Amino acid sequence: MTPLTPSQIVKFLDQHVVGQEDAKKQLAVAVYAHFKKIAFAKAADSEIVKSNILLIGPTGTGKTLLCETLSKALGVPFVTANATSLAQSEYVNEEIEAILQRLIDKAAGDI
Ligand SMILES: Nc1ncnc2c1ncn2[C@@H]1O[C@H](COP(=O)(O)OP(=O)(O)O)[C@@H](O)[C@H]1O
Ligand SMILES: [Mg+2]
Repeated sequence: MTPLTPSQIVKFLDQHVVGQEDAKKQLAVAVYAHFKKIAFAKAADSEIVKSNILLIGPTGTGKTLLCETLSKALGVPFVTANATSLAQSEYVNEEIEAILQRLIDKAAGDI
């Protein structure tokens, strides 16, 4: 599969998310760079360092929607988890396992 270009990713996001143009561009470029890094690492048989994206903003502005839409554009499994419930839980390990199980289910068992 040829990777989507940043502008193709933005175009896809535009179909589902209103506004948030800066966030769309930043996400698209970061994701594009991430896949490129993976491809280079595979070719060079080297490991990549995990990179993260922190989306900050008021409730209901489309952060989760952006991530969900992005996962559709890329064809990667996606789940959301609430960190507040994790921090309050007495059964932290079980909760984390449950999150991972949901992710594995979304990935149709493909670890
Ligand atoms: N920019 C947007 N474009 C389209 N729908 C949006 C947008 N922002 C929020 N929504 C809708 O409002 C609801 C809450 O959005 P959500 O992504 O869960 O917000 P957040 O994760 O930032 O709190 C969802 O139903 C989402 O589809
Ligand atoms: Mg959210």
